[in-house]
Amino acid sequence: MTTQELIEKYLNFFRQRQHAVIPSASLVPDNDPSVLFTTAGMHPLVPHLLGQPHPQGRRLADVQQCVRTGDINEVGDDTHLTFFEMLGNWSLGDYFKDEAIKWSWEFLTAPEWLAIPRELISVSVFAGDQDAALDEESKAAWRRLGIPEQRIRALSKADNWWGPAGQTGPCGPDTEMFYWTGQSAPPQVFDPADKRWVEIWNDVFMQYRKTETGSFEPLTQQNVDTGMGVERTVAVLNRQTNVYSTDTFVPAFELLESRIAKRDERALRIVVDHLRAATMILGDPAGVVPSNVERGYVVRRLIRRAIRYGRLLGIPGMFTAEVGALFVPTFQGRYPWLKRNAGFIREQFSAEEERFSGTIERGTRKLERRLENSGDKVLPGIEAFDLLQTYGFPIELTEEILRERGWTVERESFTTAFRQHQELSRTAAAGRFRSGLADTSVETTKLHTATHLLHAALRKVLGEHVQQKGSNITPERLRFDFSYQSKLTAEELKRVEDVVNEQIKRALLVSRDEMSPAEATRDGALGFFGHKYTGKISVYTMGDFSKEICTGPHVHNTSELGSFHILKEEASSAGIRRIKAVVRPAKEVQT
Ligand code: ALA
Repeated sequence: MTTQELIEKYLNFFRQRQHAVIPSASLVPDNDPSVLFTTAGMHPLVPHLLGQPHPQGRRLADVQQCVRTGDINEVGDDTHLTFFEMLGNWSLGDYFKDEAIKWSWEFLTAPEWLAIPRELISVSVFAGDQDAALDEESKAAWRRLGIPEQRIRALSKADNWWGPAGQTGPCGPDTEMFYWTGQSAPPQVFDPADKRWVEIWNDVFMQYRKTETGSFEPLTQQNVDTGMGVERTVAVLNRQTNVYSTDTFVPAFELLESRIAKRDERALRIVVDHLRAATMILGDPAGVVPSNVERGYVVRRLIRRAIRYGRLLGIPGMFTAEVGALFVPTFQGRYPWLKRNAGFIREQFSAEEERFSGTIERGTRKLERRLENSGDKVLPGIEAFDLLQTYGFPIELTEEILRERGWTVERESFTTAFRQHQELSRTAAAGRFRSGLADTSVETTKLHTATHLLHAALRKVLGEHVQQKGSNITPERLRFDFSYQSKLTAEELKRVEDVVNEQIKRALLVSRDEMSPAEATRDGALGFFGHKYTGKISVYTMGDFSKEICTGPHVHNTSELGSFHILKEEASSAGIRRIKAVVRPAKEVQT
């Protein structure tokens, strides 16, 4: 079975059961600062899982592209991938456990669908704990379908619970389906620790919301969120032992195999996986480019790690753009923006490879010489920082090379050196290469401050009647909604941008005071219109330019913002305009 065939079958199955098939969302979440990338099919649907009606109805199905970087060190084994696709069906307050489980079983086993022999499937359900009870309903649903008791295992939250994507949000117990990949017949009793049982599908029953205090509240709407890993399922259906054998990888392996000087299966898989993920990230409509911050740092690290493994395989010359280009025709049917962005993807690969190729050999030689001089096998942080600064070695790459020889890096002194270097982001300094992002990141903090400057600048340029109607900040950009009747002219936008940049140049001190709401009003502090403030509140003052009620966080001086740029001005709703804007470092560090 090919990837395309599986996807078509799945979507048809759910279409026939009154599900609307929706397109895959971007890899860059539109509206969620808690993650860098879309990590599961449910992610773009969170507002609807929390009760906002979906325009396509209560039953949805799709194939969603996902990126997960948390398990990057596992990539190269048989099942882990950085980029993967996930099939899913959703009930937004419509059907629940019985139907979801019945349909999963039918799709997996019915002769006209996947026709998997029933005895090759086992399932797990949630065992229950202090937060929620054993999932008896799921267990009973599987029993009714004829699954024997010994093929159902109840497991803890670590295994059978999903979500929330951020600190708070929708979540609930899940039931997972495993396929027997062993050569011999499966044992009668299901043992989830036996790696020959491969998980292929997860039905999550979102019936709780995790609150700020960590408690679990029942949701008003009970939802189903399912996820079937496409690559894993195609592999097991074809009795292939690993995901890299599936069809979407074939062209890349063929090209690389014709270039390598020595064969190393894990290294080859890492190169293919990383260039595939980088292609999808570079090609995303959000326009990510390799850089030292956030998503840009992720894609930089993927490309540089692929180049390093390419060197270990003995691939001569430049190769990343060529390998990346092979994924465009493979995926453009489902992700049409790839075709439009094919030139951009190629350019970004080539530019990044050129930047790194110039220094990787010298950096590697330098590091290797250093490692000959064994000592206590701990590399001082300042030397790791020098490798980053001079040769563009992401800290994780240095650490990986060191790990291979039994060395470590002094992380603390590396971080100190790094912090002192202000233009580089704290994200990279902390070695973060995962999906979660604390909301106090340097980038987010800068954008909070920029939002206050923008608010005051709009009132200065357009008039005091302008009022904030909403604000949303991700590490990449701010979004600000405000009351105003007409579209802003190019001159007005330019003027607003200039006013903000003047305040950045003036290097205004940002100070915070605590006061009562009455005192804040007396001082003329702006607040979010329509918001009721109680108790002591904090007010941020930026020189003589802005005073606003806010919980922060903010930078200490407006000069830290670098420069401010408006990307877009558009209508949000009647009488409300929306501005999207970014800040950029005054000077980018070249690596
Ligand atoms: N959200 C669930 C998963 O990703 C379905 O496994």
